[in-house]
Amino acid sequence: MHKKNPSSNLESKLNAVSNALKQSMKNIDSFTHVRGESLYVDDVNVREGTFHAVVFDSPKAHGIIKNIDYSKAEALEGVERIFTYKDIPGENQIGGIFPDEPLFAENEVHFCGMPIALIVAKSEFVARQARLLISIEIEELPVIITAKEAKVKGSFINAPRSFSLGNTDKAFEKCAYIFEGETFSNGQEHLYIETQGAYAEPSENGNLKITSSTQGPTAVQKTTAKVLGIPMHKIEVDVTRLGGGFGGKEDQATPWAVMAALATFHLNQSVKLVLNRHDDLRMTGKRHPYESSYKIGLSKDLKIIAYEAEFLQNSGAAADLSPAIAERTLFHATNSYFVENVKTTVLSCKTNLPPNTAFRGFGGPQGMFVIECAIVRAASEIGISPIKIQEANLLQDNDSFSYGQIATQVEAQNTWDSAKSIFNLESLEKEVEDFNSTHQNFKKGLALMPIAFGISFTNTPMNHARALVHIYQDGSVGISTAAVEMGQGVNTKMLQIAAQVFSIENSKVKIETTNTTRVANTSPSAASSTADLNGKALLKACNLLRDRLKEIVAEEYKTQKEHIELKDEFVYINSEKTDLTWTALIGKAMERRVALSENAHYATPIIHFDKTKEKGHPFAYHFYGTAIITTTVDCIRGTYVFDDVKIVHDYGKSMSEGIDLGQVEGALVQGIGWMTMEEIAYNDKGKLLSNALSTYKVPDIFSIPRNIDVIPLETQGNDMAVLKSKAVGEPPLMYGIGAYFAIQNAIKAFNPNYTLKFHAPMTPEKVLMSLYKK
Ligand code: MOS
Repeated sequence: MHKKNPSSNLESKLNAVSNALKQSMKNIDSFTHVRGESLYVDDVNVREGTFHAVVFDSPKAHGIIKNIDYSKAEALEGVERIFTYKDIPGENQIGGIFPDEPLFAENEVHFCGMPIALIVAKSEFVARQARLLISIEIEELPVIITAKEAKVKGSFINAPRSFSLGNTDKAFEKCAYIFEGETFSNGQEHLYIETQGAYAEPSENGNLKITSSTQGPTAVQKTTAKVLGIPMHKIEVDVTRLGGGFGGKEDQATPWAVMAALATFHLNQSVKLVLNRHDDLRMTGKRHPYESSYKIGLSKDLKIIAYEAEFLQNSGAAADLSPAIAERTLFHATNSYFVENVKTTVLSCKTNLPPNTAFRGFGGPQGMFVIECAIVRAASEIGISPIKIQEANLLQDNDSFSYGQIATQVEAQNTWDSAKSIFNLESLEKEVEDFNSTHQNFKKGLALMPIAFGISFTNTPMNHARALVHIYQDGSVGISTAAVEMGQGVNTKMLQIAAQVFSIENSKVKIETTNTTRVANTSPSAASSTADLNGKALLKACNLLRDRLKEIVAEEYKTQKEHIELKDEFVYINSEKTDLTWTALIGKAMERRVALSENAHYATPIIHFDKTKEKGHPFAYHFYGTAIITTTVDCIRGTYVFDDVKIVHDYGKSMSEGIDLGQVEGALVQGIGWMTMEEIAYNDKGKLLSNALSTYKVPDIFSIPRNIDVIPLETQGNDMAVLKSKAVGEPPLMYGIGAYFAIQNAIKAFNPNYTLKFHAPMTPEKVLMSLYKK
């Protein structure tokens, strides 16, 4: 093949990206964001007389409540009332998957931070003062902190799950190389900028309105109804936007909303409950830490013939979403590789930590980390670059995943080869080598990270959405969907869809808040699927309305619908512009009494999954991408910088280049944070030690990669994605896994005695110890 000058190739691709960005639509929230005018729960104009609430939570990780004395707190001036489980008119139960989680502890506590009571007062300050006056006696019981301990003690959330393909036992007999080992990946704090919170208001006849910072308005509505013992229709949940979610508000936004509603229910007065950062860090669950073991078998030509893994998921004290997250670990256990013989098992281990929960990638990253560790370990033992093993096993069309789905429109090889050629991997590797041979105290390391990620909720019944579109008589448009805007730009994408179908100015389209009275029975905004599901429903609603409008034109102009086009706010017939404007057309529709509202429903076709066989076709499609990560380690200090992250990313046909690039960059940095610096620590009593930003380091502007190049993959796109624009929310987080191995490669270049460790995050402390390990 004739090789073009690689640097000019890269330059022209990057120019194309930057031109696309210039033309792409800005996030519609950017204007109010930079002016500080965007509204969050804490910005709601509260009614006069609103009460403020603070949660009283368990100071112990496990024990029996012997006595609680609220009297001093209750006597404090300004305290209205303290609510406990005894005040719950319905069920004291908020478990989403299993009914194993009380809203308020009754006789036992199961984790530090477990809610026990809600203090409602005239101000948050008074409520906090009152909290200090509560005394509690707890008879302590033994605590379980790690997943391994839980396994030994037989403490599980549910039965283990296993996926298998082929026959690993037989396959291992044929392997030239077999390696076994253990890995650990720690949890991760969501650190949404807006902490958890809700504001509940009473209405007439015992109806309630809740403004919540939730990814799942219906979950809030449903759970509130259950706890209060009233029908769902009495509760309206409204969400304007979230200051970040990352999965932390998929399930765990619910309790705070329910508590505020409970107090409102009793007091007939509005109640606001917004956690401060300390309370939020202590009371909420995080990404699940995983302790895993693997066995990998390869042939002489580096094909992975067999792979086994056991994942111990640290689920915390209640199920929350753990079983679903565990399932996704199995779905992604072989990442973007084809392995003929697979056996993977996951155990959701019950411990005395806050229930761990959804976090961008939803168990997928934890699974992928393990096979990448296995590959790196194998490569090191065989004495080759892991890149060789990665490359020899990339998924191809018609390969089967362990869960039975046959891979189609696979872009694994395409993103890999494109990344290698566009970014000129050989020269990048040579730069690293040259640098390392000429530098004593600084060493560079490079790693590749390919990703395959399935798009859909793995729980098939959740893959649906609805959109409600009103065209008002002045030609302006209002849109409601189940999509929750949390900074990911989904509202911008929804606006684009409507503006595009009607061919009207963006300013004519308004995206309404997400509200359970306008769009009911919603799935949460999660699983990277929000734009696809809601966007497809919205497309359908807009197309129905456009069709109806075309019928009016067809009658008036005595022509056929096929000859009519709506373009730039005018009606065109046979490609000729008429003088009928969009607004005038809407006027005609009003005169003719034509319905200008439409409600459409979309349910992902094709997908299915049989949990009794652990086989099916759970995903609408897969996302693919490849990253090349380069780091420089300061071998005196143990610190590191990421010089370069170069990515070929399968956007499909991106409908919003700016927003999608933002998602890739943000997710990448969040992934790097998880793998290299964010270290959650509990003491052996289950108390969170990393309970503030002084003890929990997240990536900041100084720790982001010096350079990030993201090139869109050239591809046909996939019709299962909305407008062929692929899901982008979670997958790019997993590029960050490469950061772990890049650092490890730099350490090896400095310290030949270093033995590989698979214990994330690779913090500067660990790097320093590794550099000087004899
Ligand atoms: Mo997301 S981790 O599916 O809320």
